[in-house]
Amino acid sequence: MISLDVNGKTYNIDVGPEAPLLWVIREHLGLSGTKFGCGMALCGACTVHIDGKATRSCQTPVKDAAGKKITTIEGIPDDHPVKKAWIEDEVPQCGYCQPGQIMEAVALLKENPNPGDDDIDNVMSGNLCRCGTYQRIRRSIHSASKMMAEGGKS
Ligand code: FES
Ligand code: FES
Repeated sequence: MISLDVNGKTYNIDVGPEAPLLWVIREHLGLSGTKFGCGMALCGACTVHIDGKATRSCQTPVKDAAGKKITTIEGIPDDHPVKKAWIEDEVPQCGYCQPGQIMEAVALLKENPNPGDDDIDNVMSGNLCRCGTYQRIRRSIHSASKMMAEGGKS
């Protein structure tokens, strides 16, 4: 049994310690917002937060997440500036990579509330988008940063 804190709820899950966190989140908890892309920590589709840090859940054994605070896309409130900016700027195309992009962007803005283009590109370059929404992602991170500075929550 492994005990996990996901989006503020505690779950006791009967799973082997080496099972990828991504599988546990999707298959055991039914939280399907976090996506499977490459399975090799190369695309960012599976990004969640572990103790606030953006982490590739496909390459994280569930035992490494036990006792830590895990947040998935479902745990980011709808009125979060990043989600609001994403909707206002109509960032998604097919949408598949977007939960991972949003999780990475939320972590970036927590660390650096006013990132420049280079900061954004450095952090976001590990999150691939086959639809090429990179320009809108960058613009939306700037919009979210502005919203946060004007008093939105982070
Ligand atoms: S599915 Fe985890 S990084 Fe691609
Ligand atoms: S929106 Fe289609 S892969 Fe990014």
